[in-house]
Amino acid sequence: MAGGGTPDSVGDLARERERFEREAAEVSSRDAWEALRLRWVGRKQGVVRALLAAIKEVPVEQKREYGQVVNLLKRRVESRLEELEGELERAERQAAIGAAAVDVTLPGRRPALGSLHPVSIVTQEIVEIFSAMGYSVAEGPEVEEDYYNFQALNFPPDHPARDTQDTFFVEGGKLLRTHTSPVQVRTMLEREEPPIRVICPGRAYRFDNDLRHSPMFHQVECLVVDKGITLGHLKGTLEAFVRKLFRPETGVRLRPSYFPFTEPSAEVDITCPFCSGDGCRTCSDTGWMEILGSGMVDPRVLAECGFDPEIYSGFAFGLGLDRVAMIRFDIPNIRVLFENDERLLRQVRG
Ligand code: DAH
Repeated sequence: MAGGGTPDSVGDLARERERFEREAAEVSSRDAWEALRLRWVGRKQGVVRALLAAIKEVPVEQKREYGQVVNLLKRRVESRLEELEGELERAERQAAIGAAAVDVTLPGRRPALGSLHPVSIVTQEIVEIFSAMGYSVAEGPEVEEDYYNFQALNFPPDHPARDTQDTFFVEGGKLLRTHTSPVQVRTMLEREEPPIRVICPGRAYRFDNDLRHSPMFHQVECLVVDKGITLGHLKGTLEAFVRKLFRPETGVRLRPSYFPFTEPSAEVDITCPFCSGDGCRTCSDTGWMEILGSGMVDPRVLAECGFDPEIYSGFAFGLGLDRVAMIRFDIPNIRVLFENDERLLRQVRG
């Protein structure tokens, strides 16, 4: 048949068999297998059928041999087809297993975990430290009135200290509080009688923007009012506080300063948490680091808030939380705190 005519000799059968083997060796898909099957053993046009039929044409003396050889070819075709089908099935099964495979050695995908912001971490720690000392937490509005942010804190209208506050004014004569100190005023006005021991964490705003200042920042205000409160209480409280927040051997130093709402006023330095006071780049070789403003509550502020300064006295301080977070987590630039880069949170979480 290969040559076009009907094969009718044993020699032709040998060539047909070779042809089948070649074609079978090429089969690599179900479709090709089905085509091969139809071509060779299909009921209507199968080559094997034609070869069997061709026995009629074979000379008598060759018929016997031809018949044997053609039957051998038929069996070979059938068994080879069966074998091929098995191979294809196995290959298909392997492919299916491969496609659905679960690679148990692959590392799992971790869900992104939320974590606390550095400022939230230090806020919580500070609240805990003061709660343990009997303080409660007070809060006030961020959009504040001039009276609470300035006037009641002894910044009269046109007082030059107002210029130091870089205030954002908003509609209706209000402003964004420039510090958390107005919460002192609100707390004193709310309370009938001392003792008062509060801390007030919150946001404050000033139009200031550089490596160490952001227009929005965080503070914690502290206020204590009672009979007989002295500067000694302020210093003792500050020492207890910074030794819990930083290292137990942290030293505290008060430097005279000025705030309208305290008299006397002091800036507070702590021994540098990086070099423990030996001097390093971070503390400009001074061994000290300024962390907060403080003082004894000015008698005018007490009086404005309804407490007799002849009977009561108090101390207060205001601490920049962002600065504490920067020291604590060794963050060089305040903006890093507000850029919402998740890598920062991952580092803080450790
Ligand atoms: N409110 C001041 C500021 O942000 C900080 C401050 C200083 C607060 C002295 C106080 C204090 O309570 O006594 O600049």
